[in-house]
Amino acid sequence: MTDKTQNAMWGGRFATGPDAIMEAINASIGFDRRMAAQDIAGSRAHAAMLAAQGIITDKDAEAIGKGLLTILSEIENGNFAFSTALEDIHMNVEARLKELIGEPAGRLHTGRSRNDQVAVDFRLWVRDRCDEAVAKLSALCLALVGQAEVGADWVMPGFTHMQVAQPVTWGHHMLAYVEMFGRDAGRFRDARTRLNESPLGAAALAGTSFPIDRHMTARALGFDRPSANSLDAVSDRDFALEFLAAASISAMHLSRLAEELVIWSTAQFRFVALSDRFSTGSSIMPQKKNPDAAELIRAKVGRIMGANAGLMMVMKGLPLTYSKDMQEDKEQVFDAADNLMLALAAMEGMIRDLSANRANLEAAAASGFSTATDLADWLVRTLGLPFREAHHVTGALVALAERRGCDLPDLTLADMQSAHAGITEDVYTVLGVHNSVASRQSYGGTAPNQVRAQIALWKEKLK
Ligand code: ARG
Repeated sequence: MTDKTQNAMWGGRFATGPDAIMEAINASIGFDRRMAAQDIAGSRAHAAMLAAQGIITDKDAEAIGKGLLTILSEIENGNFAFSTALEDIHMNVEARLKELIGEPAGRLHTGRSRNDQVAVDFRLWVRDRCDEAVAKLSALCLALVGQAEVGADWVMPGFTHMQVAQPVTWGHHMLAYVEMFGRDAGRFRDARTRLNESPLGAAALAGTSFPIDRHMTARALGFDRPSANSLDAVSDRDFALEFLAAASISAMHLSRLAEELVIWSTAQFRFVALSDRFSTGSSIMPQKKNPDAAELIRAKVGRIMGANAGLMMVMKGLPLTYSKDMQEDKEQVFDAADNLMLALAAMEGMIRDLSANRANLEAAAASGFSTATDLADWLVRTLGLPFREAHHVTGALVALAERRGCDLPDLTLADMQSAHAGITEDVYTVLGVHNSVASRQSYGGTAPNQVRAQIALWKEKLK
């Protein structure tokens, strides 16, 4: 007894088609259609290899290859009828191929399974996103380097504990993020290198009895080599997890920069002005200019790290090899990738358009006794005090200035000498913020010439 709703791929063993709920929970075509181009590339490589190995005829391979290209253009032009009954992208493409070319379509699946097929499709998709992330991170780094160049010697307060610590340069602060996003790009490159092995030809799990050439398909798809163990090939999703881990760290970095932009653009700070193009207004308060893009970027880390944790939970405890659980890998990765790319693009635009307020940065740099460390260092260098004692003397002077309601450079020489008799006029040369940053000459320090040297290195690297 047969049923017309029976699955065309495995109907032979089944008496009836699936329950509607079964179909709903099982189908992945709603999302895995995003891998159509990768699926077709994988099938084309497989068909060409089957012909080269004499497993199918050249004529059949040619019909398959042509049919697949027709399907690709149907999908790209939006005139492909995706069917939930056909479950996933693999079966949708194969069924359409059968409509187009007839019998030879049935030979495409020789020596292959949906298990290696989905593994190759997903790898190719994630590989593209690794490349895209690297490109977007480079563009963001260039925007930050541009900001660093404009204000290589602009002084601003450097913070620890969100309290004014020491004066730093705007350029140095921008380059700190370039270091972070540069490492992120490195993580995506590393992930890509490890990812770049072809699972195609692992078949269901054990390999195949057909004389396939896995090296040929690996080469055709831009992989460095075929994966060495067929069981691992169909059950491994490390590449997706590595992508999500790299994406999580990058999103965390983005959230830190976003948070600084939110703080810096407040009326209390006024360190930066965001452009109108990257701000929103309020429906009730006419004066408002809100940093919505920065806030949304700050929040994106939630779903991206959520995807990372989510896929870890899916993979945890799965026995070898393929289990349908693994179909739950894709939506999280798609969503995380979409949101990371959007956040990177938005951050790049915001940074490019950003105008830092030099005067406000400089005024803030001088507040909060930011050159107290310079004073202590002067006591060590000039009077030979042990640093601990210099720290104590300086602390007394900060307390005195605080009582007077003034800054350190406003104290008189007599005030200074009340804390240590040896202090001379010369001390005032180190109390200015420009002197302070210029003196931070240690490698990686905030001195403008150090910053300019780093800018030159980054421009070379980002070329
Ligand atoms: N849609 C499936 C997935 O995303 C494809 C692989 C199906 N394999 C299987 N043996 N049912 O994982």
